[in-house]
Amino acid sequence: MISEKIQNILNEQINKEFYSAYLYLAMSAHFDEMGLKGFADWTKIQAREEVDHGMILFDYIIERQGRVSLKQIEMPEENFGNPLEVFEKIYSHEKYVTDSINCVANMTDEECDLATRYFINWYISEQVEEEANVDDIIKKLKIFGSEKAALYHLDKELGNREYKPHSYNS
Ligand code: FEO
Repeated sequence: MISEKIQNILNEQINKEFYSAYLYLAMSAHFDEMGLKGFADWTKIQAREEVDHGMILFDYIIERQGRVSLKQIEMPEENFGNPLEVFEKIYSHEKYVTDSINCVANMTDEECDLATRYFINWYISEQVEEEANVDDIIKKLKIFGSEKAALYHLDKELGNREYKPHSYNS
């Protein structure tokens, strides 16, 4: 069984992951309006992965005989700017999520909860990958983003992303 402190921080993390899904969905709609289908698909897939992140936490709390408590999801903004500005917002949001996951890890240490510490390691690695992927796209946008032909090719490249479901215990 998990402690109340761990249960609360994991429930807060569920909310952050579902908010992330909302944020990426809003960005996807924004890219779709701009006619950037590949960027829209990339962010829509990211939204699905964020739902998976939330569901993995949901399943874990239940497996550890905790109580899931779903909080209200904040409304995301709707005006994101050009592709570089959107990806800079994504990077800053993912850094915030990384800090949040680090706080969960820190609390598992304080509570001597080794099982949750082991569980949360997956999220720590996932954040490293997410920040690196976004940083890579930001670098490309900084170099080529103002050239229409390059943006067209980057849109095609991002459109190749495939959704790979994540789930707990599988
Ligand atoms: Fe689930 Fe993008 O952090």
